[in-house]
Amino acid sequence: MDSPFKPDVLRGKVALLTGGGSGIGFEISTQFGKHGASIAIMGRRKNVLDDAVSALQSLGIPAVGFEGDVRKREDAQRVVEATVKHFGKLDILVNAAAGNFLASAEDLSPNGFKTVMDIDSVGTFTMCHEALPYLKKGGPGRNSSTGGFILNISATLHYTAAWYQIHVSAAKAAVDALTRNLALEWGTDYDIRVNGIAPGPIGDTPGMSKLAPQEIDSKARDYMPLFRLGTKWDIAMTAVYLASDAGKFINGSILPVDGGLWLSRPRHLPKDAVKQLSRTVEKRSRAAPTALPTSRL
Ligand code: COA
Repeated sequence: MDSPFKPDVLRGKVALLTGGGSGIGFEISTQFGKHGASIAIMGRRKNVLDDAVSALQSLGIPAVGFEGDVRKREDAQRVVEATVKHFGKLDILVNAAAGNFLASAEDLSPNGFKTVMDIDSVGTFTMCHEALPYLKKGGPGRNSSTGGFILNISATLHYTAAWYQIHVSAAKAAVDALTRNLALEWGTDYDIRVNGIAPGPIGDTPGMSKLAPQEIDSKARDYMPLFRLGTKWDIAMTAVYLASDAGKFINGSILPVDGGLWLSRPRHLPKDAVKQLSRTVEKRSRAAPTALPTSRL
């Protein structure tokens, strides 16, 4: 699908994306590149990185891949520094790396819980922390008038509760807390905007194939407000909007991009039945006071 944005809205920007070689992260890498940014991607799997970089370069996007695990502070530091060395500066950090699997709370080991917290929450903080010196207003290679931009990808699971995802819900709740707190502190001190996107179920992603087997997926469509799964493009366009000047006054916001799914509840009455029932109840309640003894009015 064509982008509704001008192709130069991110011209001259340098973006580093964790988990930028696959799934939602790769689509954001691609769309940022198509809108003028140079792209560095960080990931654990060399073959995934190599394929992603080749695909970006074949679109004419300046791209480079760096192997690294967001759980290791030395990797975070090395990759941030390598990005700045390669492209001369850093304008945008996208934290899209995530770990996920389904497990009941009873069967999940504390180490399983910690592993996802370490990747999603601690990893996001570590990347932000190591990128801060470069994202600050006046940081190396940056001009002194504006700070950079951080985008954290979370989820909507923790808005309510999610079966078999206690670890992911806790981790994404922490990511949202990071987004708001960094927006407050670093927005004030360094003019860095920090925002989040909370995707709902997005088709054709590793997350979806791990978390929603086909049977659940087709049932879910029945109560999704927009009657479809989201696409990676939906998330990437939101990312372009937030990263561009169109989003320059948006800070500390976490935008759910899920077609309204997190708000949805099973319909407990058909629409026509509501009309009938409501009128009947109204009539009854209007009639009620006259039936009461006058002494009680
Ligand atoms: N069910 C229950 N527990 C699981 C599990 C599963 N499917 N997969 C891993 N674990 C537990 C392990 O048992 C281990 O705990 P233990 O030591 O108490 O046994 C702990 O999690 C760490 O597992 P390990 O395989 O060593 O971790 P890893 O670092 O190699 O992999 C994961 C991290 C588990 C998150 C892996 O799924 C991953 O790398 N995912 C990245 C890609 C991804 O999930 N993308 C989707 C994005 S939405």
